[in-house]
Amino acid sequence: MLVLGIETSCDETAVAVVEGPAGPQPVGKILSNTVYSQLTEHRRFGGVVPEIAARAHLERIDGLIEQALAEAGVGLADLDGIAATGGPGLIGGVMVGVMTGKALAFAHDKPFLAVNHLEGHALSVRLTEPVEFPYLLLLASGGHCQLLTVRGPGDFTRLGTTIDDAAGECFDKTAKLLGLGFPGGPAVEKAAAGGDPKRFALPRPMWRKPGCDFSFSGLKTAVRQAAEKLDPSDPRAVADLCASFQRTVGDVFADRCTNALTLAPMPTLVVAGGVAANVYLRGRLEEVAAAHGAKLVAPPVRLCTDNGAMIAWAGVERLRLGRVDALDFRPRPRWPLDPTATTAKRV
Ligand code: KG4
Ligand code: ZN
Repeated sequence: MLVLGIETSCDETAVAVVEGPAGPQPVGKILSNTVYSQLTEHRRFGGVVPEIAARAHLERIDGLIEQALAEAGVGLADLDGIAATGGPGLIGGVMVGVMTGKALAFAHDKPFLAVNHLEGHALSVRLTEPVEFPYLLLLASGGHCQLLTVRGPGDFTRLGTTIDDAAGECFDKTAKLLGLGFPGGPAVEKAAAGGDPKRFALPRPMWRKPGCDFSFSGLKTAVRQAAEKLDPSDPRAVADLCASFQRTVGDVFADRCTNALTLAPMPTLVVAGGVAANVYLRGRLEEVAAAHGAKLVAPPVRLCTDNGAMIAWAGVERLRLGRVDALDFRPRPRWPLDPTATTAKRV
């Protein structure tokens, strides 16, 4: 089963070809995974500009599809399905991906699969590791921070979410305040190496509160206040603040996942989304999982941030269940994984 995956929901134009499992092998195979990161387009603005992103996707998408097919050594006629991110995300970009996917599916008479970007992250671990359903998932990216139980494609129960900012956004803000550049996550992780994680006592929002919700706005403010007081040209101070911030996020993740593993015990804890690329945070979650007799599984670092392979893989999972989409699918700026979940509240 060969599926082409198109990802255009934020600032990465990404296309991949993934082969679904054949025979007893439970995982998939990535035949190609091309990505164009719009770093130069957005860097001078210090964040993603939606209109610029949409135009950049439009300029690159055709070339990336050609490249992904060539690297995989397959033609459009060989595909079993065409998957594109259908939301949630910056709507101009999502429209570019969806329209391209639909056009290819129509022209080549292939099934079209509109993939929820969050489901792409949520299922990505199964592309490379034989993880069985159900599992507990911490999904931490630039726009989301949620704990969910995953029972299968399209079958999620949200245990908690952030009441304000996402964890990745907090990493990006910290990097911006300290002049470390964009995107912030990898820059903060790098700067934190060798820093003193105990130098700054930062607030741990929601820590030891019941439930599985998150909050990061108080931490963001505290980092800003600490950053304003320190000398940005002092690499030691910057390293110490990054390390202290990262440890605080680790404390919050550990505390929230402890509650989740207690409320909904599962044999596997999965972490996915861009923030899952952070090696320190993976270590913290490994400890929490082990303390509850569970195992932490995370996608390889390069598959944590947005990519086409995770969209193609979610397409494989849906196609296997016959869940294809009609060509009148409308791109969705918002698309919760668990539509029954209510808005999180401060406790
Ligand atoms: O999943 P993703 O690529 O895009 C969204 O769907 O949002 O996540 C991007 C986020 C950014 O906020 C970025 O700073 C963060 O993931 N991130 C990291 C790391 N690498 C990326 N955060 C912490 N540590 C990292 N190594
Ligand atoms: Zn993402």
